[in-house]
Amino acid sequence: MDILDVIRSRSTAKSFTGGSINSQVIDRILEAGRLAPSAKNRQAWRFIAVRREELKKILSEACYGDQRLIDAGCVIAVCTTNIQYKMPNGQLSYPLDMAFAASFMMLQAEHEGLGSSLLATYDERSVKDLLTVPHAMRVVMLLAVGNSSEKQDYIDRLPKERVISYDHW
Ligand SMILES: Cc1cc2nc3c(=O)[nH]c(=O)nc-3n(C[C@H](O)[C@H](O)[C@H](O)COP(=O)(O)O)c2cc1C
Repeated sequence: MDILDVIRSRSTAKSFTGGSINSQVIDRILEAGRLAPSAKNRQAWRFIAVRREELKKILSEACYGDQRLIDAGCVIAVCTTNIQYKMPNGQLSYPLDMAFAASFMMLQAEHEGLGSSLLATYDERSVKDLLTVPHAMRVVMLLAVGNSSEKQDYIDRLPKERVISYDHW
């Protein structure tokens, strides 16, 4: 599939139908994250893939009962190993680095015919405790991946004229 087709066909999975995901598919999704760009190529990340049913259940509690965490075949905790590094423009790199990694993994999941949901609605302390993430590190987002037939209704994007310009604001 053309990359733009993958991008166009992806939207947030509203629910997952359950069932496991082939471990080679999970490996390819994680590989897409591993190959993502990061500021200065520092790769200050760790991706924790959660597949065990009992762990996903507890994870769901930390996500205020979101059923998608239970029904997803795999939940990837996108964690940063450094929260201090600033880029030459003075901005923190970790939110961007994690977003690129999550985007790459999300698109690979779509390419594999799976649904995905990005989640930032969770109690970070509980997720850290559960996944043994050191307290100095951060769980920046969760990416739930799984079999899905129900995508979020297409949320239209702003028109080109509103968000794109050439040579000036
Ligand atoms: C940084 C970030 C955090 C998000 N957090 C959540 C979340 O906590 N729960 C959720 O259901 N969706 C979450 N989303 C998904 C967005 O709501 C969704 O991507 C957006 O509405 C566009 O819809 P689409 O993904 O179907 O294109 C998040 C997306 C991003 C980029």
